[in-house]
Amino acid sequence: MVIARERARIAQLLGVLLPAERMARDCALAQSGIAADRAARRFLITQARQEAFHAKLMASARDWVHPRSTRSLPGDATMVRYRALIERALQRGDLAESLVGQQVILEGLGHVVCERIHAGIAWRRLGFTRIGALVAHQERVHHAFGVRALERMIDDDHARRRALAQRAAPYLALIDEILGTLAELFAFFAEDPLAYRSEMVTTFPGWLRAEVQPSRVDGTARETP
Ligand SMILES: [Fe+2]
Ligand SMILES: [Fe+2]
Repeated sequence: MVIARERARIAQLLGVLLPAERMARDCALAQSGIAADRAARRFLITQARQEAFHAKLMASARDWVHPRSTRSLPGDATMVRYRALIERALQRGDLAESLVGQQVILEGLGHVVCERIHAGIAWRRLGFTRIGALVAHQERVHHAFGVRALERMIDDDHARRRALAQRAAPYLALIDEILGTLAELFAFFAEDPLAYRSEMVTTFPGWLRAEVQPSRVDGTARETP
């Protein structure tokens, strides 16, 4: 049995993931409009479809777990700012920056979150085992696509890689803010936001990892691996 308090917190977590899934859907669709090769465009259209499915899944799971949990959440405003950063990159036609912000960083964190939720007892108790594994797998594929697409785009261009890695800084600062605002939720599940952050960084390609600054989650400066 999942107790009422746990249900409310799980619903809250799903409510945090929901705007991220919607952002991923809109971003992948916009990216499919500016990607140069046909295979990438096809992948991104499929991704947009999968993200739309994830968003529906999160919304119905949240309503099923806790029907009254539609209030706005602490990380919402920061997520809006994150979305604005990606939208500005897309408006400039900067596919590379949008891949860094969406597939590499956000979905790097996304698949860490999905895999940890999937491994969590609460998720299994709710009977989401198979669907949870599918979502975690799809997030991993989206992330890997972003890493590979960037590898092809910037290849051995060190100056461009460096510039792109530096442009990742505001995205990472917002990720730290989001993790910081969710400290209470993390504490409820006995999880450490810094562990999520560190694990996310390990999913980054080396050229981006080299530019990552120490975490500012909770205002404490700690080194990441
Ligand atoms: Fe997703
Ligand atoms: Fe995704």
